[in-house]
Amino acid sequence: MTSTPDVPRGTFTHESVSEVSAASIPRQPFATSSPLLEAVTTAINLKSGQLRLPKPGRPRVLCVANQKGGVGKTTTTVNIAAALAYGGLRVLVIDLDPQGNASTAFSVPHHAGSMGSYEVVVDQTPIADVVQDTSIPGLLCVAATLDLAGAETELVSAVAREQRLRKAVQTYLELCAAAGEPLDYVLIDCPPSLGLLTVNALTCAEQVLLPIQCEFYALEGVSQLLKIVDLVGRELNPGLVVGHILLTMYDSRTRLSQQVAEDVRTHFGAKVITEAVPRSVRVSEAPSFGQTVVDYDPGSSGSRAYIEAARELAERLAAQ
Ligand SMILES: Nc1ncnc2c1ncn2[C@@H]1O[C@H](COP(=O)(O)OP(=O)(O)O)[C@@H](O)[C@H]1O
Ligand SMILES: [Mg+2]
Repeated sequence: MTSTPDVPRGTFTHESVSEVSAASIPRQPFATSSPLLEAVTTAINLKSGQLRLPKPGRPRVLCVANQKGGVGKTTTTVNIAAALAYGGLRVLVIDLDPQGNASTAFSVPHHAGSMGSYEVVVDQTPIADVVQDTSIPGLLCVAATLDLAGAETELVSAVAREQRLRKAVQTYLELCAAAGEPLDYVLIDCPPSLGLLTVNALTCAEQVLLPIQCEFYALEGVSQLLKIVDLVGRELNPGLVVGHILLTMYDSRTRLSQQVAEDVRTHFGAKVITEAVPRSVRVSEAPSFGQTVVDYDPGSSGSRAYIEAARELAERLAAQ
């Protein structure tokens, strides 16, 4: 029997191979690209600074919100931010979740007694006084400490309680521009609730980036978020929209994941970012090393998906 190297192993039984002559097997063109090759190329481009993303015409403030916990808000915030920064953009992440998971992912100090987003929203401390560098060039972070858990109740009686973050961010953006180091992106990681912290983020942002987990009950609560976005858009922050939706924890092997992705794309159309982030162990491992997956394993499928999503986001926003 002649060898047929381009027949995938395991596809044919011995019997069926003997029935198929080599000439009748359609020859595939030589593979110039494979997922692995692409992943390695993306990783090399990212780390060597060859991935250049377009600058938006003005600083863009996005909040990553969904009141459901565990849908990938923090993972999306830190990885999109990292990819944008590696793409040559200047990015500020504001961790607005008392759990401080984004601060952990960037390894920035957020122990009791350190300054962060609590001081910004409650004490009106300027962002310039609390902002920290991360290990990623061009990426800054305002950390969240556990104190932030008390902010919801402390803000209730505060003056202009919904506007605290907006004012602080505006001042900081002006400061950066005046110093000749303008920011390109501010990403705000919201807590899993629709309380005053999320309302502060929605009042501050120009657009919402909404992560939707490709699981059962994925759309539960999304209509409630859309109502709040609408309300904040009417009362506090005209023009606020859900600008982009990112499908997270997508598992192409399950019918359920495919169905959720299909439903979301049908319902939200062009708002949905083309790349869906796959469920991947590397993504979930990265935070325990104080890293984003983009740093921890840049060639992994999760990292690649976030880099692609960041690229699409940057291209969309540079064109708007
Ligand atoms: N694509 C993914 N693949 C595997 N695990 C993921 C993925 N995205 C997020 N996770 C994990 O799921 C959990 C919830 O994600 P997280 O980003 O913290 O959600 P949220 O901020 O919405 O609560 C975390 O443990 C995180 O590591
Ligand atoms: Mg979170």
